[in-house]
Amino acid sequence: MSEQKTKKSLSRSQFLGIAWGGSLSLVFAQAAVALLKFIEPVSSGGFGGSIYAGLIDEFAINSINRILAGRFFLSRTEDGVIALWQKCTHLGCAVPWVEEEGQFHCPCHGSLFNEVGDVLGGPAPRPLDFFPIEIKSGEVWVDTSQPTERAKHQPEHITGA
Ligand code: FES
Repeated sequence: MSEQKTKKSLSRSQFLGIAWGGSLSLVFAQAAVALLKFIEPVSSGGFGGSIYAGLIDEFAINSINRILAGRFFLSRTEDGVIALWQKCTHLGCAVPWVEEEGQFHCPCHGSLFNEVGDVLGGPAPRPLDFFPIEIKSGEVWVDTSQPTERAKHQPEHITGA
């Protein structure tokens, strides 16, 4: 009788040990998955990846459209399109397009940029950075992982559309 009681007690503690170990393993596995998702590079779907801006026909010639998800403005000129990063090249403030002024106007220290990002005034040392654009079957895709700095706007910064 006494031997049987010991066996039962041992079995229960083994079960608890296995359950405890299993629970811990599950917690560590979940933490590892969360960590991997956190450090995985962003490849699509948000800023830092490839962003779908819209159909090229949706963007009128001589218009500026803000693409919130990509933190850029899609500027369409008569020559094509350019995706301008909203980050001011002075100290990094978000620069809005001011329709009434017909220019980008940084609210922080007053830098001004034209429709292709060239500096018109203020302390900004260079034009707004731009992102590569690919137009596939009329869809405009912008790769926000690669901002390009430039000393001055050049015609080749425009993607033909
Ligand atoms: S951050 Fe834009 S002018 Fe200073």
